[in-house]
Amino acid sequence: MKKGKGKQGPSEKAILAALSTVEDPELRRDIVSLGMIRDLKISGGKVAFRFVLTTPACPLRDELQRRAEEAVRSVPGVESVDVKMDAEVRTHSRPSGPRPVQGVRNVIAVASNKGGVGKSTVALNLAVALAKHGARVGLLDADFTGPNIPTMVGIEHGYQAETGLAPVTRYGVSVVSIGFLLKPGAALIWRGPLIGSGIRQLLHELDWAADGELDYLVVDLPPGTSDAPLSMAQEALIAGVAIVTTPQSVSLEDATKAVMMFGKLNVPVFGIIENMSYFLCPHCGQRTDIFGHGGASAAAEKLGLAFLGEIPLDAQVQTSTDQGVPIVERDPDSPVAQVFMRIAENIAARVSVQRFSEEEANK
Ligand SMILES: Nc1ncnc2c1ncn2[C@@H]1O[C@H](COP(=O)(O)OP(=O)(O)O)[C@@H](O)[C@H]1O
Ligand SMILES: [Mg+2]
Repeated sequence: MKKGKGKQGPSEKAILAALSTVEDPELRRDIVSLGMIRDLKISGGKVAFRFVLTTPACPLRDELQRRAEEAVRSVPGVESVDVKMDAEVRTHSRPSGPRPVQGVRNVIAVASNKGGVGKSTVALNLAVALAKHGARVGLLDADFTGPNIPTMVGIEHGYQAETGLAPVTRYGVSVVSIGFLLKPGAALIWRGPLIGSGIRQLLHELDWAADGELDYLVVDLPPGTSDAPLSMAQEALIAGVAIVTTPQSVSLEDATKAVMMFGKLNVPVFGIIENMSYFLCPHCGQRTDIFGHGGASAAAEKLGLAFLGEIPLDAQVQTSTDQGVPIVERDPDSPVAQVFMRIAENIAARVSVQRFSEEEANK
C-alpha cells in the first residue's frame, strides 16, 4: 500500500483507457463513454472512483464492479483500487404524450388478464424488492374494483377516511391505496368515468416526492382490459407494463389481447411474469410442475416479448401477505423472495435500457 519512492502513479488517461474496455452488456457501450465513472482520484498507486449505474437494482452490478476493478488493476503502477458502487435512475428525456407524474422518474404498471393471478402480490413484492436494492419506490394500488394492498401491508381499510389520502411508508415503500380511503365493499361502486378521474387524482394530486423523487412508482392495475388501464395510459406517462399470468389462465389469446391493448395505447410492455408457476416442496425442495408450467414463456416468445421470470407457488407467499408482511421483507433469503429480487432487477434493467435508447434517439 506504500507509495513507490518517487515513482509516478498511473495517469488518469491510462485508468480511463483501461476502464473503457469494460462494456455494459445491457446498454452495449463502454462504461466510460456512458459517464458511469465519476470522481476519479489517483494518488500514487491508489485509484478510487465512483461507479454510477443506471439502477441500484442492476442485475450485473457485481460483475461490472469486478470487471472494472480487474481492468484498473491491470494498469502498470496500480497498487489498490477502491470502487464505490452507486446509481442514478434516469427519467424520461423530452417526454411527449401523457403528462409525467410529478416527482416520479419511472412508472411501472403491473397488469393481468384475469383477477386472482397474484397481480397485487407481484406488484407489492416487486416494489419492496426494488426498495431493498436501494431505489426510492412508491406503490399505487389503483385496483378500484378490489384494492387488496392495505391488507397486504397490514393497514386497515378506511384508515385515511378522515384525514385524506397520503402515501404511507411501509417496508421502505411509499404506499397509496384507494382502500385507505374506503371501507371494504365501498370500492366496488367505482365505474367508468369515476375511475378515470380517480386515477388522475391519485397520480397527479398526491405528493409522491415528499421524501425525495421516486425512482420507480409501481402501479397495481385492476385486472383485465377495462377502463382503468385505459385511463391510466391516457392520464400518465408509463415507462412500461409487466403482465402477470398463471400457467392455468395464460392463453396466447389472453396475453395477446393485453399486449395489443397496451400497444395501441403506446405503452411499452416489459414482458410477462408467470406466477404460481411450479410448486417447490418446503420439506424436500423438490419442484413439481403442477399446472403444466411454461405457458407464459411460450406465449412471451410467440409475442416477441421478454419473459421476466417464474414465481413458484409457495404457501409462505400467501401467509405472509395475509399477515401484512410481504415475503421479500419477511424472508428475503428464501428461494421465492430471491425470485422476486431477480424479477425486480430484470424490470429495472429494462427501464434503464429504455431511458438510454430514448436519450440516444434525442441526441
Ligand atoms: N406465488 C404464490 N404462491 C402462493 N400464493 C400466492 C402466490 N401469488 C399469489 N398468491 C395468493 O393468491 C391470492 C391472489 O393473489 P392476489 O395478489 O391478491 O391476486 P390479484 O391481485 O391478481 O387478484 C392471494 O391469496 C395470494 O396470497
Ligand atoms: Mg389484486
